[in-house]
Amino acid sequence: MSWVWSAQAEPFACLRFILARVLTLHVSLAERSYPILIGDDLLADAPLLGRHLSARDLLLVSNTTVAPLYAERVRNALSDRRIVDVRLPDGEQYKTMEYLARVLDVLVANRFGRDCVVLALGGGVVGDLAGFSAACYQRGVAFAQMPTTLLAQVDSSVGGKTGVNHPGGKNMIGAFHQPSAVFADISTLRTLPLRELRAGLAEVVKYGLIFDLAFLDWIDKNVDALLALDPAALAHAIHRSCELKADVVRRDERETGDRALLNLGHTFGHAIETATGYTEWLHGEAVAAGMVIAADMSARLGMLPASDVQRVKDLLQRIGLPVEAPRFGAQRALDCMRVDKKVKSGRIRLVLLEQLGAARFTADYADDALTSTLATHFG
Ligand code: NAD
Ligand code: GLY
Repeated sequence: MSWVWSAQAEPFACLRFILARVLTLHVSLAERSYPILIGDDLLADAPLLGRHLSARDLLLVSNTTVAPLYAERVRNALSDRRIVDVRLPDGEQYKTMEYLARVLDVLVANRFGRDCVVLALGGGVVGDLAGFSAACYQRGVAFAQMPTTLLAQVDSSVGGKTGVNHPGGKNMIGAFHQPSAVFADISTLRTLPLRELRAGLAEVVKYGLIFDLAFLDWIDKNVDALLALDPAALAHAIHRSCELKADVVRRDERETGDRALLNLGHTFGHAIETATGYTEWLHGEAVAAGMVIAADMSARLGMLPASDVQRVKDLLQRIGLPVEAPRFGAQRALDCMRVDKKVKSGRIRLVLLEQLGAARFTADYADDALTSTLATHFG
């Protein structure tokens, strides 16, 4: 259960966490720059929250699962402010225009001005919806992310993608709107269901696969510590993931280039989520199976040795993630992949692995490699 200190792990981040209990990263985006704070019990840390949230009026958006666990902590830490609560029902099916309108109604009804701050306390669903409400209200007010799932701490709270779903597609309506701060409180992961923790770890593995072999090696050695919620191991995993994401967002905020690399496994995973109606598979689970398929297709194209595909599969399996797609048919998978946002001029663009720790976003691949990959994995 103890985590492995290795030459690959960034030693200063580990040391800083052990000494200070808070790691700070900076997302550099000129006037939209902001800090990511990672540590234990951040949501109860009145001086820290006070330093980063100067507004008098705060709208605390959460849901019916997370608010009973953590809203009081935030309220107590910010007891000198006017805080209005919004509790959304829990679930992806409520990430809609209807619930967005409800949040906006509360802002209007309470006469919040442009100097208010929207606080998003919860997983990616709350973060995306609350962030989009901040992007829309009075043409844009500040918001801060308080992510409480591992997926939200390593991915959705960073980078400014906000939005809601539409019956015609997931995340169809939205805006790029960067938060003013991200408070990733590791202690909140203690109440997270294990299945959700595993789904978040799929995204952590994703960063290693795309950008950083040393980080992938570190994850390999620390799976047990991560699953046992070892705080130093989690802090390092979140810190390195956010560092890698912040770097790609700094280079390509609006996803016209490199940011698309973050979609490794997502196009195949999207087919699984769409074909199963977004009810059976968690997003991170579909991404896990999708990353195995992307690795296998990279091997078919001669980019990756078969032993690396097996390594990806073994790691995800040790985390407890699914590595086999449901066999609903290659044609169905292809149809689902064709409605993905990454399709350009009718051609499916994919993230493939050049090696472990380096990826390429491309439409330039042999069609029979895709056909045989889909036949093998979807039947
Ligand atoms: P989620 O927000 O639905 O949270 C998962 C479940 O865990 C929910 O039931 C939630 O109430 C519960 N929960 C959250 N924190 C908890 C805690 N600490 N203790 C106990 N229960 C807790 O799911 P998610 O995986 O966090 O996010 C998925 C969403 O994120 C999707 O809507 C996806 O589109 C979006 N997303 C956005 C981005 C982005 O860049 N904006 C990136 C990836 C995913
Ligand atoms: N989750 C992918 C992105 O933020 O770009």
